[in-house]
Amino acid sequence: MTGGTPAPILVRLRVNGRDCAEAVAPRWLLTDFLRDRLGLTGTHVGCEHGVCGACTVLLDGEPVRACLMLAVQADGATITTVEGLAPDGARLHPVQEAFRQEHGLQCGFCTPGLLLTAVALLRDTPRPSDAEIRQGLAGSLCRCTGYQNVVRAVRRASELLGAAASRT
Ligand code: FES
Ligand code: FES
Repeated sequence: MTGGTPAPILVRLRVNGRDCAEAVAPRWLLTDFLRDRLGLTGTHVGCEHGVCGACTVLLDGEPVRACLMLAVQADGATITTVEGLAPDGARLHPVQEAFRQEHGLQCGFCTPGLLLTAVALLRDTPRPSDAEIRQGLAGSLCRCTGYQNVVRAVRRASELLGAAASRT
């Protein structure tokens, strides 16, 4: 019988605007890869089985659970993690700014997933109703906020993004 550890597989990705090529074990989750290999620990790991949404990242622009994907399945993809929302660190992304203004977070554990989900929601629906906001964020669990301020923050983010778009 043959056994042993499967050989690493080369994975090529564009993460937060930077190309990377890394050899990873086939069993590695995308969360492990982002956090442990690339040091992008803003991608949080809560339930590890697709329920809480804390690990949500954008994969080719769409929100996905990074705990439900193998890193090798993301080969060739473009990924945005929460670190990619404000890459220079000098200025918050409008969605982050709105969460700050409206107190849309407490402990912050769910926040990276909520932010990235909100970015995708507002790209597809720039002026969502409160019902659409709640529906759009329904896949993210938050133990702290009661969601009221989160909904307010997404509404505010819609205004900030709209104002920014009208200036360009
Ligand atoms: S850690 Fe991925 S959904 Fe909870
Ligand atoms: S702010 Fe604590 S879990 Fe959402």
